Amino acid sequence: MNDFYRNKNILVIVTGSISAYKSATLVREFVKSGAHVRVGMTAAAQKFITVQTLAVLSKHDVLTDLFRDEKAAVTHIEWAKWADMIFVVPATANIIGKIANGIADDAVTATVMASPAAKVIAPAMNDVMFNNDAVVRNLNLLKSDGWFIIDPAIGFLAEGYESQGRLPEPVTIINQAAIRIQARGGELKGKKLVITAGGTREALDPVRYLTNRSSGKMGYALAQVAAELGATVVLITTTKREELYGVREIVVTSTRDMHTAVVQEFSDADVFISSAAVSDYRPASQAENKIKKVGHENLTIELIQNPDILSDIGHMKKAGQIVVGFAAETQNVLASAQKKLSKKNADFLIANDVSNVDSGFDSDNNKVTILSRDKDPEKIELLPKIDIARAILDRVVKTLA
Ligand SMILES: Cc1cc2nc3c(=O)[nH]c(=O)nc-3n(C[C@H](O)[C@H](O)[C@H](O)COP(=O)(O)O)c2cc1C
Repeated sequence: MNDFYRNKNILVIVTGSISAYKSATLVREFVKSGAHVRVGMTAAAQKFITVQTLAVLSKHDVLTDLFRDEKAAVTHIEWAKWADMIFVVPATANIIGKIANGIADDAVTATVMASPAAKVIAPAMNDVMFNNDAVVRNLNLLKSDGWFIIDPAIGFLAEGYESQGRLPEPVTIINQAAIRIQARGGELKGKKLVITAGGTREALDPVRYLTNRSSGKMGYALAQVAAELGATVVLITTTKREELYGVREIVVTSTRDMHTAVVQEFSDADVFISSAAVSDYRPASQAENKIKKVGHENLTIELIQNPDILSDIGHMKKAGQIVVGFAAETQNVLASAQKKLSKKNADFLIANDVSNVDSGFDSDNNKVTILSRDKDPEKIELLPKIDIARAILDRVVKTLA
């Protein structure tokens, strides 16, 4: 789960949509990510999910009434100050209209208006409502007021048919919001990063291929962090993992396909990060039909060399462009990586020992050493891949500056 929310104060406002039940998962996910969570509910929301459910999950009383007690404290002002972020999830057409037009006639709208926090809103409604002129107008107003709008997903609506209006899954909302909030004023704004991910596949026949154990997790982590820092990201990948907001994916299969896509995207890019595990070799020929056992006591497959993506891009780069390679090795890791750095004309080489069982291929963690042209190798201890990605991109940001 995203570390971005750790120790943050998050106010979740729930309104009267049929998808209000998903707010329970949203609150739980925020709590799991280490955030302090409070919940505000409109009167209509309480028809769909109970106050008690959200009070227990958030471990705090729920804000429902503007005039709820006679103490000196003004609850909605206190809560407005407390919040670092406000999430209106799900948001009805009604609440969107009220907030966009400055109406503060209940506990939640008064709190929203009194808060300088970062604000995220996830509309959920019938598709005709979502396309209604007033709703479109009001969402545009919120956008220009600096709200982060999480677009509804296309999917099966409560009305029984497929269209746009469905509340995205809570984890998607959480990840998308983290990327967008961090990207505002991000250090890679205006920069284009091309990142590769996954293991390439080299066909032997229509059903078989040669590949490796790469999962694509490192490349996806790099793409996520680059997007969080505001970059324009193109992820050229052989595997489809989670959808990342603001990342354009190009799905390829073989090393040659990946090479073509990288060369094309690199011409106007600022940075290339080669985290895919590309096959050095491919079968000399691909059988048109499935290779049969009959007639083959032993089968020898001739392999020929694939193009070297990192080396070609390294030698193609112009002044100002940065190239980062990965060296997955099982022996003499540092010496091999050092050689690769100069041979491929890369600016950084990330050496990882993939013989470790607790890191490297298919693991959520990685243990790497960052080699660069003018500094001593920097060893980074075992960390989640997302933190390794942050460490790598930190070096890239400093070099671009
Ligand atoms: C069964 C049912 C489901 C509803 N679902 C939605 C919805 O998904 N989105 C929406 O904008 N309004 C929906 N409404 C209408 C809102 O509940 C209504 O506009 C209400 O006034 C919203 O109040 P609030 O914005 O203060 O929560 C629904 C109403 C009912 C009865």
